Amino acid sequence: MTRPRIILTARWPASIEAELKERYDVTFNLDDHPFSADELRQALRDYDAVCPTVVDPLNAKVMETHPIRCRIIANFGVGINHIDLEMARKSNITVTNTPGVLTNCTADLTMTLILMAARRAGEGERLVRAGQWHGWRPTQLLGTRVTGKTLGIIGMGRIGQAVARRAAKGFGMHILYHHPRPLDTSIVNHLNAQSCATVDELLPRCDFVSLHCPGGAKNRHLIGARELQLMPSHAYLINTARGEVVDTQALIEILRQGRIRGAALDVYENEPRIDPQLTRLDNVVLLPHLGSATSETRTAMGLRVLQNLDAFFAGRTPPDRVV
Ligand code: DGY
Repeated sequence: MTRPRIILTARWPASIEAELKERYDVTFNLDDHPFSADELRQALRDYDAVCPTVVDPLNAKVMETHPIRCRIIANFGVGINHIDLEMARKSNITVTNTPGVLTNCTADLTMTLILMAARRAGEGERLVRAGQWHGWRPTQLLGTRVTGKTLGIIGMGRIGQAVARRAAKGFGMHILYHHPRPLDTSIVNHLNAQSCATVDELLPRCDFVSLHCPGGAKNRHLIGARELQLMPSHAYLINTARGEVVDTQALIEILRQGRIRGAALDVYENEPRIDPQLTRLDNVVLLPHLGSATSETRTAMGLRVLQNLDAFFAGRTPPDRVV
C-alpha cells in the first residue's frame, strides 16, 4: 500500500521525525531553510499533507496554486493566522493545529518577559557582558516591583489564564482581563479576576498589560498610538501573542518618548525582520519568538501533529481540526 506523502517545512525534534519516517513517505527540510512562496506552492501540489509552522505564510496567493494534491495542512503550532482558512475551505483542505500543549511554556515565557522588563534584566546583562559593571550601588538599574501589581490580560483563553494563574498565585498580582466571551465563574473566582468590557477600560488601570489574543486581520494594531496613550506612564506592554497585534511604529514612538515605562516582545510584525529602531532602545526587551521553545513542548507539539495526521489518514476526524 502506498503511504501518504508528507512534507515538513522545518526541522522538528529528532524523535518526532523518526516516528514520522516509520509511518509516512516523508520529506524533511534537511538544512532547515525558510521555505519560499514557490516551495510552499510546490508542496501543496506534490504532497498529501503539508506540515508548516508559524513562519510559512500559506496566504491566498500561495494557496491559489493548482492542481492541489494536499488534503491536510497539519500546522506545527497553535496560531493559524498565517493560513488562509477560507481558501483551505474552498479547496477542501483540512487544517489542524496543536492547542493545549504549549500553554504552560508560553505562560512561563510571559512571566520571564514581565520580570525581565520590570527588573531591567536585559540592561543588566548587557552591562555585565560589556565589562561595564563596577560594583553594587544603591541607585543602580532600579526597576519596578512586580509582586502585588495589577496585570491586565487581553485575551483570556488558555494561555491568558495560565499567565493569570502564575501572576495571581505566584506574584500576588491583581488580575484584570478583557475577553470577547464570558468566562466560567469558577475560573474568575479562583483568580479573583475582574472583567473589563473593553480594552479602553482595561488599559488605564494596569501596571502591566499582556497580550494573549489571536493575530490576524481582526486584531491587527489592536494596540496602536491611541491605546498606548491610555496606559499609565509607569506601565509595561508585554507581547507573546502575535506581532501584528501591536502597531510597531506607534510603540517605538511611545517608548522613545518614555510615555510608557517599557515593553517586552517575543513576537514582531514582519518576523524575523525586527525594526532596527527597536534594537536601539534600552526600555524594551526583545526575544526571538521563544514562547514554546522547550524540548518538552516542541516534542509535544510534534506528537500532536502526528496524532492529527494519523487520524486524518485513518479516515477519522483529527482531534485538533480547525477547518
Ligand atoms: C504558536 O504555536 O502559534 C507559536 O507562536 C509558535 O511557538
